[in-house]
Amino acid sequence: MKKIYFPLKLKLTLWYVLLLTIVITIFSVVTYLSLEKMIIINEDTILKTQVQQISSVLDIENGKIKSGDEPFYANTDFYGALYSYPDLKLIESNIPSKILSQYTTNTDFIGKYQTVTSPEGKLRMYSAPVYYDSKIMGIIVIAQSLNLMDIAMKNLFGIFTIIIPILIGIAILGGIIISNKALKPISHMTKVAREISVGDLSKRLNLPYTNDEIGNLAQTFDMMIEKLENSFKRQKQFTHDASHELRTPIAVIQTQAESALNGTGTKEEYKKALQVILEEAKHMSKLVHDLLFLARSDSNAEKLTIENLNFSELIEGIVNELAPLAENNGLTLKIIKNDSSYIRGDQTRIIQLFYNLIDNAIKYTPAGGKVEISVENSGKFIKTSIKDTGIGIPEEHLPHIFERFYRVDKARTRKSGGSGLGLSICQWIINAHGGKIQVESCEGKGTTFVVWLPTLKK
Ligand SMILES: Nc1ncnc2c1ncn2[C@@H]1O[C@H](COP(=O)(O)OP(=O)(O)O)[C@@H](O)[C@H]1O
Ligand SMILES: [Mg+2]
Repeated sequence: MKKIYFPLKLKLTLWYVLLLTIVITIFSVVTYLSLEKMIIINEDTILKTQVQQISSVLDIENGKIKSGDEPFYANTDFYGALYSYPDLKLIESNIPSKILSQYTTNTDFIGKYQTVTSPEGKLRMYSAPVYYDSKIMGIIVIAQSLNLMDIAMKNLFGIFTIIIPILIGIAILGGIIISNKALKPISHMTKVAREISVGDLSKRLNLPYTNDEIGNLAQTFDMMIEKLENSFKRQKQFTHDASHELRTPIAVIQTQAESALNGTGTKEEYKKALQVILEEAKHMSKLVHDLLFLARSDSNAEKLTIENLNFSELIEGIVNELAPLAENNGLTLKIIKNDSSYIRGDQTRIIQLFYNLIDNAIKYTPAGGKVEISVENSGKFIKTSIKDTGIGIPEEHLPHIFERFYRVDKARTRKSGGSGLGLSICQWIINAHGGKIQVESCEGKGTTFVVWLPTLKK
């Protein structure tokens, strides 16, 4: 079954109006009923005071209650009746007998308030005994019309029936306007989200920021798209760089092989061609190896084998291994400080890390220069500095050297076999070990890489 589309703003408005209607209705009913009750209580007080006043001025003769020259209710705005007691004979009355009997047939009517309805309207009635020498002499019944109250209550009802629909109307209108305004950004978000595709992640909501749920959502949405766009860009750039990087060695191999196959060269020339091909193949092999490593680390497939390592010994080993290379390049490579230190880490990766850094230092330092390694154990961290007196890195390049395929001088490093992946691999290894790396460099004077790795806690 297809679900009908029921917009949120409609739902919100309906709930809001429903609640408001209930509240207004309860309020009106309570107001109406309490007003009526208040008027009646007020009326009852008036009747009681009246009875008290009248009974004090009634004529009593020989122990008998007597009607005066004028009935007690003459010239007043209420009705009355006077009974003798205990025989309950009606002495005088201006209350229509039908109404009077409606009241008095009620046993124990004395001292009771009652509303009696007649064709002329409602009457509020009350009665009280008349005392003389603390003996009951007669009964007074007094009544007043409730017509005024009825008119007031009818008016109030009329006002309510006009005002309540108007209020609800305003509420519906207000509800629609408010929810429309509040939910407008959501419709906008839906529209933009539909327009965004993998190919075009440049779209943003760009809503003016409001500090509420919707403002936060819009901001988060934009941030998410931005992250996606950046990672998509990086991926594109990476693929582009990788294929570009592989194209050169393949082209070299191809031309070398083609010219060798032409078959007019000497044995020496063939050998040279094969040597070039071998170099390029080695370069490609390293490149593919590095790329695979980065791909595995990106997808979290690269797992470390963590063990306790004697770090100072490890550094010595790496330096010994690289010593011949330094010597060939006419450099002095030495360890100037080596505090005894232990770390927890993956041996292969730690060796790869410092091999890369020292290899760089050797590679980018001209003959006659120095590469100095120092290991300092500060207790919490092990600080390893690799300092060279090489060509340095221009300041504007410093922020980028850890990016993949980034090389300061593309032409020169190509010859020395660098692909620009070394430092990004170093960075990954350091992050995976909970360490950090810093670089300081002065163009033409030298570069210092400093690596911090957490010490092994004994
Ligand atoms: N010790 C250093 N001295 C000068 N430049 C350096 C040094 N180490 C790295 N660089 C610069 O940083 C770039 C990136 O280094 P890396 O990622 O190891 O790539 P590469 O494969 O070129 O060695 C290098 O191409 C080089 O320009
Ligand atoms: Mg390198």
